[in-house]
Amino acid sequence: MHGRRLSTLEEVIVLAAPDSDSMVDRVTSWTNTHDISVTTLDVGTSVTDEHVDRTKTTMGVTVGGDGTFLEGARAFAPHQIPLLGINSGTLAFLARVNQTDVEDALSEVFRGRASVNARQQYEVVSDDINTTGINEVFLRKHPPEERYGTKVGSLHVFVDDEYVGQYFGSGLIISTPTGSTGRAYSNHGPVHYPQDNRTLQIVPHETISAAVDPIVVSCDSDIRVVLDDDFDIDIDGGRQFQRLEAGTVVKVTGADQPAQAVRTSYDDPFITALVDKLDWGLRTVDEDGPRSSLTDIGADKPTDFRVRAAQVAKEAAESAGEPLRELHGQVENIEYKTDKSDIVTEADYQANDIIRTAINSEFPNHMVQSEENDDVKPADGYVWLIDPLDGTGNFAHGNPNYSVSIALLEDGVPIVGVVYAPETDEMFHAVAGGGAYLNGNQIETTTRDRLDESMLLSGYDPDGGFLQAFYQETQGVRRLGSAALHLAYVAAGSADAVWEYDTLPWDVAAGLCLLREVGGRATDQHGTEYELLLEADGTTRTPLLASNGLLHDQLIEELETADI
Ligand code: IPD
Ligand code: CA
Ligand code: CA
Repeated sequence: MHGRRLSTLEEVIVLAAPDSDSMVDRVTSWTNTHDISVTTLDVGTSVTDEHVDRTKTTMGVTVGGDGTFLEGARAFAPHQIPLLGINSGTLAFLARVNQTDVEDALSEVFRGRASVNARQQYEVVSDDINTTGINEVFLRKHPPEERYGTKVGSLHVFVDDEYVGQYFGSGLIISTPTGSTGRAYSNHGPVHYPQDNRTLQIVPHETISAAVDPIVVSCDSDIRVVLDDDFDIDIDGGRQFQRLEAGTVVKVTGADQPAQAVRTSYDDPFITALVDKLDWGLRTVDEDGPRSSLTDIGADKPTDFRVRAAQVAKEAAESAGEPLRELHGQVENIEYKTDKSDIVTEADYQANDIIRTAINSEFPNHMVQSEENDDVKPADGYVWLIDPLDGTGNFAHGNPNYSVSIALLEDGVPIVGVVYAPETDEMFHAVAGGGAYLNGNQIETTTRDRLDESMLLSGYDPDGGFLQAFYQETQGVRRLGSAALHLAYVAAGSADAVWEYDTLPWDVAAGLCLLREVGGRATDQHGTEYELLLEADGTTRTPLLASNGLLHDQLIEELETADI
């Protein structure tokens, strides 16, 4: 699965094409059965704040073909509402759930198994046009008045103020990756895999210069087109269409808000749809049918269960990060200023719920335990240990140092660790035996072995003993306020060691996995290997000294001298 998960569903807004009543009835009867509120609007109606209940997790559903989906993308994107397209038409690349699968696809969303993929949109401004679209802007030479008049027009293209040149032909197409499979493709443009692809492409339409190739630019680029002749502008296949006079400037750039497309296993996969519908003849067909998997082509290498678990944990942490970021942004609001406990409880609850749903739906036989339901269970088998919000004190004060911590334990030993800092978008992960990573790049501890050159971190330090013992002797002692982040930073070499006076298993399980993968050491203050106390009741706290390994013995010596 790619993209973040859509973990809950409480409200559905349907945009329906004409003549799709029976399909709409099926959607509403499904929502009624699942106690989900539903609003149905005709395609073309603007979705406004009145239609959306901000306290609920909402999904948009379009019922129709690709045209309805395009309209839905425009209507829902400003509200950041993810969109599922049900195809009641014939050929569709965007509305990808077929009629037979409607209830199953909706149930998959409800069970937290669907993902949400960001799709780049464009923004087009010219004369009185100021709109967004998801497919393409097509500028086509306005047809000549006389039958034999020229159909060739001229226009000039600039990218980020650099002059590309003068194009002669019947027009120009500027498309997003999603729009790459339509008009742009028919004019020899490349096909883009649309998921999380943030680009725009410029494809000449029936150019008379054989040497002009399509150009792919960043979605942040400003594309300016200056028309030498009268052209018609066609936005997303006719959604908006009008004549522009010679001399008009058309500006196109990537829109800030992506469209959020919901993907379920009932969608036609993108490349399969392409290969089949365009009959590329790329896939060998033998007596068992077309070959489409690694097994089929004899290159099967099953994905390690741990790698899959790490992927699920990362997706869950990222999804939990969204409500956390949103609520964190509200803590200083008047409403919460005096009593912050409500907002923190809400943040804990929402993040916990999202992570649990994601893990339960992928690994229904695993035990999931978190700070929010701290009934510590036996340590055998697979147990997930979660702190949905580590650093609640920081969170409550609008400080960015808080994190999501998720670990998978096998017989009490962390084999997967994920620590995610939503405000800085730092995703740390490790799989036992596979190294540790920050945003996909391998991390390592420092190689410092002198205390006077080191920088330390400290957690709760009740009488300031740790600070007193090390502040003068080192380059400093910092206290960030999230035990999970402390360990991640030591594993990534942003600090040399950390001392936590008391820890609970969910504070440190993920961080320990990271640390062990980079060869760090974790003990108590006397050098005894640190153990996660799972079988004890959840209130038993244990001290933890974690370091790059090289400084460890010196740190213990000092701790013992200072009697900490
Ligand atoms: C706390 C933080 C803090 C540490 C405490 C933890 P919470 O977790 O990690 O840095 O010193 O021991 O309980 O309550 O914010 O999840
Ligand atoms: Ca914690
Ligand atoms: Ca917590």
